[in-house]
Amino acid sequence: MGAAGAGALIVGLYTWRVEPHWLEFTHPVLPIAGLPRELEGRTLAQLSDLHVGPKVDDDYILESFRRVQQLAPDIVVYTGDWITYRTKGQFEQLRRVMAHAPHGRLGTIGILGNHDYGLGWRMADVAEEVTGIVRAAGVTLLRNEAVDVAGLQFLGLDDLWGLRFDPVELLARKGQDASTVVLCHNPDAADHAVWSRYQGWILAGHTHGGQCKPPFLPPPLLPVNNKRYTSGEISLSGNRRLYISRGVGHLLRVRFNVRPEIPIFQLQRAV
Ligand SMILES: [Fe+2]
Repeated sequence: MGAAGAGALIVGLYTWRVEPHWLEFTHPVLPIAGLPRELEGRTLAQLSDLHVGPKVDDDYILESFRRVQQLAPDIVVYTGDWITYRTKGQFEQLRRVMAHAPHGRLGTIGILGNHDYGLGWRMADVAEEVTGIVRAAGVTLLRNEAVDVAGLQFLGLDDLWGLRFDPVELLARKGQDASTVVLCHNPDAADHAVWSRYQGWILAGHTHGGQCKPPFLPPPLLPVNNKRYTSGEISLSGNRRLYISRGVGHLLRVRFNVRPEIPIFQLQRAV
């Protein structure tokens, strides 16, 4: 094998064996209008796209869980794609993994992603099963619903590609309340005419940051219409702001220049 072949092999091994499990904790700030004083400086961990199933090692997810729990976050949110569905075996696998899921000291909230709707995103019974498993594990799973955590309101939207994307009434009724954060798996939902007068953060996942990103170029694998929606913080119209986590798991086990991410946000009171 020549030098070029050896180089390609090393890059290939890195992309397959190393980076998919090289978790990065990021520390963005989350300024929120009207945040209760007692929540200032508190932390919110966002876990997204676990993809429990045939492609992601359970041990890697469990180690990620352990590291999050060690940080003792005040709030933990899970923004969908709990599983990659192949068979009903994923339910037992998810149950086993979720027995170790990190919880926030004040609250633990989640939503569904497209993969939680099974094959073709059309299996309502799979979504029901996932909902039941994560709720039994102590997660407040929101399906176009709201929950209050120590004066901070979370609105959890059901998935854009799933069977119950129906946030209009929720956002119209609750979207203008002070101190609100929206959880929404697919960032493309930000471009749909459903937001009423909501101003504030939308925490999303879904893209995995593209999983592979050539240096200085946009990632080629982005399952969104709006190609601005790769990862990180993005300003939106209507005074909204989007944060897209690169997620914990993967579909194909390849990542290059797009490490898996768990953001540990620090809550701030916006002025
Ligand atoms: Fe995903």
